[in-house]
Amino acid sequence: MNRPKIWIALDVPARGDAESLMNKFSSHRQFKVGLELFTAIGPGPVIEWIRQGWEIFLDLKLHDIPHTVSRAINRIEEMGVSLTTVHATGGMAMIEALSREQLAIVGVTLLTSLSTDDIHQMGITGTSQDFVINAAQRCKHAGLDGVVASLDETPRIRELWPESRIVVPGIRWGAAVPGDDQERIATPQQAVLAGATDLVIGRSLIGRPDVVQAYQELMAMVESVSEER
Ligand code: C5P
Repeated sequence: MNRPKIWIALDVPARGDAESLMNKFSSHRQFKVGLELFTAIGPGPVIEWIRQGWEIFLDLKLHDIPHTVSRAINRIEEMGVSLTTVHATGGMAMIEALSREQLAIVGVTLLTSLSTDDIHQMGITGTSQDFVINAAQRCKHAGLDGVVASLDETPRIRELWPESRIVVPGIRWGAAVPGDDQERIATPQQAVLAGATDLVIGRSLIGRPDVVQAYQELMAMVESVSEER
């Protein structure tokens, strides 16, 4: 398996902040644009970045009626985005027939901020792991390209869906993230060894005082285990 893609989350409020981060990691080409930044800057700058050679994961976690989601996916595809997300809990009609040639679409199984207790509060029985595996099976049958999942479920998903993209967020190393809201976390090495194809890296990297040093640490950790899997 190849080295996984590392998506650096541009979880910042303005275009200038995003571009200053992109310039700090000048050799890195993969960045994730999420709700905060996209709400602030809209598609224009994102399209410009893509034209300049950056690869963008637009993480909007779509969840609406099938017609609306399918049309939003058309707009995302037109932007030239490489990877995007829809909620697997949107139902089969929403997630099937979304497949696009130039755009990979992965299903959010269960947010990594949610635990088994949270899903019980929603009236769902079973563990968070059962919930994620069930969602992954639905994503597979719907013809999506893969899933977003935590470390805990990655090996099982890899088994039941060998060609799946598995995007793992909640990556942590070094100092604790203040007010951390991720319940299910992994080190970069654990995620790579478990079979993740894509890692999403946010506050453990962009929240560090020396982001360039943190980036070097991250790349060394990923390299050290990529050969082993
Ligand atoms: O800062 P941290 O590393 O926790 O950032 C995680 C990023 O990954 C955020 O941009 C968040 O929206 C995203 N994400 C997530 N859990 C998912 C899907 C995406 O945390 N299930």
